[in-house]
Amino acid sequence: MTLLMKLSRRDDVGLQHQVFEQIRSMILDGTVKCGAKLPATRLLSETLGVSRNTISLAYARLADEGYIEMRESVGTFVSSQIPDLALLPANASDVSAHALDGHFTILGSASIAAEVRSQTLINPHQRPLCADFWVGRPAAKSFPLKTWSKLIHRRLLSAGGALTEYKDPAGLLDLRKAIIEHLRAWRGITAHEDQIIIVGGCQDGLNLVCRMMMVRDGSAIVETPCYQGAAYLFESFGARLHPVPVDAKGLVTSMLPDVANSIAYVTPSHQYPLGVTLTLDRRIELLAWAARTHSYILEDDYDSDFRFSGPPITALKGLDRAGRVIYLGTFSKCIGAGIRVGYVVIPRGLEDSARHFKTLMNNGQPWLEQAALADFMKDGFYESHLRRIRRLYLNRRNALLDSLKRHFGSNEVLGAEAGMHLVWRIPKHLPSAHEIEKIALSVGVGVYTVSSGGAADLCPAAENDRLLVLGFSSLSEREIELGISRLAQALAKINPLAITRGPGHLPKGEIHPRSKGEPPHKQKRPLDRRMLA
Ligand SMILES: Cc1ncc(COP(=O)(O)O)c(C=O)c1O
Repeated sequence: MTLLMKLSRRDDVGLQHQVFEQIRSMILDGTVKCGAKLPATRLLSETLGVSRNTISLAYARLADEGYIEMRESVGTFVSSQIPDLALLPANASDVSAHALDGHFTILGSASIAAEVRSQTLINPHQRPLCADFWVGRPAAKSFPLKTWSKLIHRRLLSAGGALTEYKDPAGLLDLRKAIIEHLRAWRGITAHEDQIIIVGGCQDGLNLVCRMMMVRDGSAIVETPCYQGAAYLFESFGARLHPVPVDAKGLVTSMLPDVANSIAYVTPSHQYPLGVTLTLDRRIELLAWAARTHSYILEDDYDSDFRFSGPPITALKGLDRAGRVIYLGTFSKCIGAGIRVGYVVIPRGLEDSARHFKTLMNNGQPWLEQAALADFMKDGFYESHLRRIRRLYLNRRNALLDSLKRHFGSNEVLGAEAGMHLVWRIPKHLPSAHEIEKIALSVGVGVYTVSSGGAADLCPAAENDRLLVLGFSSLSEREIELGISRLAQALAKINPLAITRGPGHLPKGEIHPRSKGEPPHKQKRPLDRRMLA
């Protein structure tokens, strides 16, 4: 038989591999039938203009993998043992259309366990913007590149078997110990190293907890609005969601449903997305509710390293006497989402189950990042890094507050005392959040409504359309001013009364008296009183 093959000498892939791949594909897509005789190696080598050895080696590999059989003094044949299931159509997307008597339903949409949605993590506009107030992005230049590469290099040199062996699925002990120290000093949490499981960020931690605890038709209590990644994950596990509203004091605990054995997902330090902090009386109520209903609280502490005034607030986990709080921490915001490292603090009594589930999920996280991070924390780099970026984000937050005040006359905001974003309450005379988002986009500025900014607004309240979510951490002070002034100009075209005549509107070159010397956001300012009652 003749085989229609075309080899490329310019290809990065070797000739022998090309011969192997092309014959294998012809067998799998049925072009060459089971039992068919293949050309002799000499003939095929002459036809293709390659050495006979190339063909012999390709045939030998096909035989090793069971695609062909070489019968001495008779010839080479396509194996008659290849099961039908291996004869896949060339394009896997055709599978569901062909339906093949149900054999392939695992690849077709009918077999997907549940219709799922997933969280938006990057700016949904997919085009460059001159100022993008997208939420939760660390400043790109803040990554401690020099130190990190030194630590990685040092660990690589002394890695020994660490890169080839399986390790404790709960994570590197050095890192777990460093995290315990950090949690004790900064979050008021006391934990034993067995209670820490290193995961690939909060999202992975949420998955671990769901695998451990979520039963079909189980209940998940969520703040509304809340982080999409949590709400959609619970949905994907078939959970019934019970949204509980949030006000200026955080989750309205008096509205917690009396659902037994449930999970309550909360962001008490800096509610996502509204930014409010859960008050102490409500924290205590929430803990009492969990004890009463035999439920667990999932505390997502995603950005609490950035508290701009006063000492860090004790985490909810720090108040947990009954072992009802599962704490999720991440390095995505304070170092970078690209390293994909986070951790879960498991209540006493559940450590072994957590370890088993983690093993089932992925046998543990990559060693190198864990090792570098452990050194980064132990050697004091983490503390100084946090101090540095806290200052940087504070300046950016102040720049944003000043720009809002100057251009719109109002910087009434929520959640400005911590984190990487704040929520601006749009003054009454301006259009709705949805309209402003569109207008901003038309002038190359990204601002976000509650639901377009990565939150699941499960019971959209009309007043949410008077709120804009503005991330400031990844923008320079100049970009912040540029973005807000552009937005103000665009809105002024629609309604000239929409904006104030502050220093942002002075003729080019003229300096406002307040702006002489220090930039406005660096001048002395009264204490924050912008939190809403
Ligand atoms: C509230 C909240 N939790 C968790 C995450 C995701 O964190 P990680 O990167 O650790 O999965 C985000 C991401 O923006 C978030 O906003």
